[in-house]
Amino acid sequence: MSGVVYVAYLLAAVFFILSLKGLSSHETAKAGNYYGMAGMAIAIIATIADPSVTRYWLLIPAIAIGAYVGVQKARAVEMTEMPQLIALLHSFVGLAAVLISWAGYLDPKAITLSGAAQTIHLVEIYLGIFIGAVTLTGSLIAWGKLNGNISGKPLTLPFRHGLNAIALLICAAMLYYFIQHPHAGVSTFFLVLMTVIALAIGLHLVAAIGGADMPVVVSMLNSYSGWAAAATGFMLGNDLLIVVGALVGSSGAILSYIMCKGMNRSFISVIMGGFGTDSTSTSTSSEIEGTAIEVFAPEVADELDSAKSVIIVPGFGMAVAHAQQAVKELTEQLQSRGCKVRFGIHPVAGRLPGHMNVLLAEANVPYDIVLEMDEINDDFTSTDVVMVIGANDTVNPDAMEKPDSPIAGMPVLKVWEANTVIVLKRSLASGYAGVENPLFFRDNTRMLFGDAKESLQQILKEM
Ligand code: TAP
Repeated sequence: MSGVVYVAYLLAAVFFILSLKGLSSHETAKAGNYYGMAGMAIAIIATIADPSVTRYWLLIPAIAIGAYVGVQKARAVEMTEMPQLIALLHSFVGLAAVLISWAGYLDPKAITLSGAAQTIHLVEIYLGIFIGAVTLTGSLIAWGKLNGNISGKPLTLPFRHGLNAIALLICAAMLYYFIQHPHAGVSTFFLVLMTVIALAIGLHLVAAIGGADMPVVVSMLNSYSGWAAAATGFMLGNDLLIVVGALVGSSGAILSYIMCKGMNRSFISVIMGGFGTDSTSTSTSSEIEGTAIEVFAPEVADELDSAKSVIIVPGFGMAVAHAQQAVKELTEQLQSRGCKVRFGIHPVAGRLPGHMNVLLAEANVPYDIVLEMDEINDDFTSTDVVMVIGANDTVNPDAMEKPDSPIAGMPVLKVWEANTVIVLKRSLASGYAGVENPLFFRDNTRMLFGDAKESLQQILKEM
């Protein structure tokens, strides 16, 4: 590899680090994206320019087709479909790691290695295939669950943790034999067998995780895809791939950890495929008594008219209804009447990390009134009106009050502590986790049924 290529790789790695730094806050997120794009452009050009790359007739059409498909997909994807797309893209990283590692094994040059160099190379191949295969099927199952093609219910096979442990032990034993006799026919068979077992592990791990934990799974698969890329980088001797893989792997793991904390889930339990989750906590219906009180736009407008403080809690429904612009108009309208308006954002509101922040930023809602759950959760008691706009699981009191609820222990926004809660949604249907929400039946809750955007427009008209 030439010196110029090394320098380019170093520069690309610096851009990727700057990108991660930029993405950590709203104000710098756009710049973070540009750094990432610059880093990736440098990385691709430097790799193509490497003297060892010769088959341009194969490479250029592949890049052109990939770029075309990528651009089309990015243009067409709805914000609400983003997690599915991310999960699908992770599966490509897994597939690439499997194919490249297999190619590394079949490459005749690998036979010329000996001693420790050969052992390291074989371990890299083995791990590349293993992590890649787990990422591949795990991501495909996550994609199916998020898409709704596969049920979000956890698959709880009898003895499931034992099955995973046995599968891991078999893979470890085959690795030992593989290193000792790398090119014996039986080793090739073991490599094929390990690939199949790893594909099954990925499938089983993610199938065992319930709908409510899916956000963590997506970021965890992001982490796995990073480690798969790093393993491939070691195998190819490509430093940039190692650095980028490690950045993706560690940032994905940190994000998973933060999200687990946000949902009060054990990190180990989620990455082990729901290990330790109570199988009795899957009840979806609760014995909710009482009736929901329906209101209409004029009454809501009156209520807001006399409110001195309002907290808006958006959720997935705001994204579906594309209601962010109407939310912004309502905010301005209330502020112009001297009302204090703030937003309460749950860490897993919507369908991807930062989903609500992105939508509100897109509608130019000022950042300083958009607060995280921990910053605002004690303020509901002193708030006149809370407007829950298409949120459901993230405001479910059962998470705090019903220990056998599937979402028990997940921190939620305590909206019910406000004087009046107005919920904008189309029906009494449950949210992503599929659990009923007793908030809708509380004495201080009013339900404004309908599409969130249309309801907000009616309220604005009345005001
Ligand atoms: P959800 O609990 O998913 O509830 C959204 C609600 O929006 C639904 O109950 C739906 O009720 C309503 N809705 C849908 N379309 C609407 C429209 N056009 N107008 C008005 N309302 C509409 O939302 P949430 O509170 O944001 O919670 C997020 C959930 O997703 C959590 O369970 C979380 O674990 C999960 N999740 C999060 C992520 C990340 S990273 N954020 C990723 C995957 C999953 P109706 O049908 O009655 O209208």
